[in-house]
Amino acid sequence: MAFDLQGWMQPHLLQIEQALTEWVDPKAPAGLGEAMRYAVLDGGKRLRPLLVLATAEATGAHTLDAALRAACALELIHAYSLVHDDMPCMDNDVLRRGKPTVHVQFGQAQALLAGDALQALSFELLTPQDGSVPPAVQATCVGLLARASGYWGMAGGQAIDLASVGERLTEAQLRQMHRLKTGALLLCSVQMGVACGDAVSDSIRLAFERFGEVLGLAFQVVDDILDVTADSTTLGKTAGKDAAADKPTYVALMGLQAAQRYADQLTQEAMQALGDTGLPPERLAALQGLASMVVNRNR
Ligand code: IPE
Ligand code: IPE
Ligand code: MG
Ligand code: MG
Ligand code: MG
Repeated sequence: MAFDLQGWMQPHLLQIEQALTEWVDPKAPAGLGEAMRYAVLDGGKRLRPLLVLATAEATGAHTLDAALRAACALELIHAYSLVHDDMPCMDNDVLRRGKPTVHVQFGQAQALLAGDALQALSFELLTPQDGSVPPAVQATCVGLLARASGYWGMAGGQAIDLASVGERLTEAQLRQMHRLKTGALLLCSVQMGVACGDAVSDSIRLAFERFGEVLGLAFQVVDDILDVTADSTTLGKTAGKDAAADKPTYVALMGLQAAQRYADQLTQEAMQALGDTGLPPERLAALQGLASMVVNRNR
């Protein structure tokens, strides 16, 4: 019987929404809580948290307390990266997840602080003091997330993105930028899922990492494509911004059709990597479904 991805996603999405709603405190001072909740709740595909949970389950784990914290921690870092990405000093966007961007709604200073506070909260979630997550798992997750979001991950990739406006990058340079600015957090989702799951062999872990790495790149290639092919209402963000801002993208580099073929090829490689884990197909079905969602999405 074909795997029911929607049926798998529904309870997991509910869990993620409930946890985020509980963990992002509305009472943070001076309106900061309101801005943080605005940035995180009621929107977003939640791909990164879903990947964490699906990976932990693929290892055979049934208890998902640690994985749920890791899932939400990733979504908070992602939300913070979007708040800052949209600010006038970066992409200067006014629409995100179908709503005015955080700086439009709350002002630039509050947007900056909401991003800062979401980043800090993310690490707070990973380090509960109640004994619910083993110290070794906490340490692994903190290290993974710090590296993936920092200078050799998302922030580094964003720096390359800004420095590359109007430049013609080679394919290798563009791939490196995409791997860092977007791929690093997707890879980290898979790595944290493994860290929070049942123990696996090194070869299984490496196959999962290959999956996360390739999927992360595919994700940004598709983001580049959607910027050209989708409309703002469907996307929930302003379409056509990359060309208008003269950003290097896969579409600019190789054209729409070749970019689409490349995204398809990367997805095949991701599926191959999943198969290389050697885990039973029913354990991998949710990850396979999420991977095909990455290329076949319309927003
Ligand atoms: C958008 O990410 C920004 C990129 C890293 C390309 P998503 O497409 O996952 O955005 P949401 O979370 O669904 O809004
Ligand atoms: C953003 O890339 C990546 C991060 C936020 C780290 P984009 O600038 O292409 O994302 P969108 O298109 O605004 O969502
Ligand atoms: Mg950007
Ligand atoms: Mg942007
Ligand atoms: Mg984009």
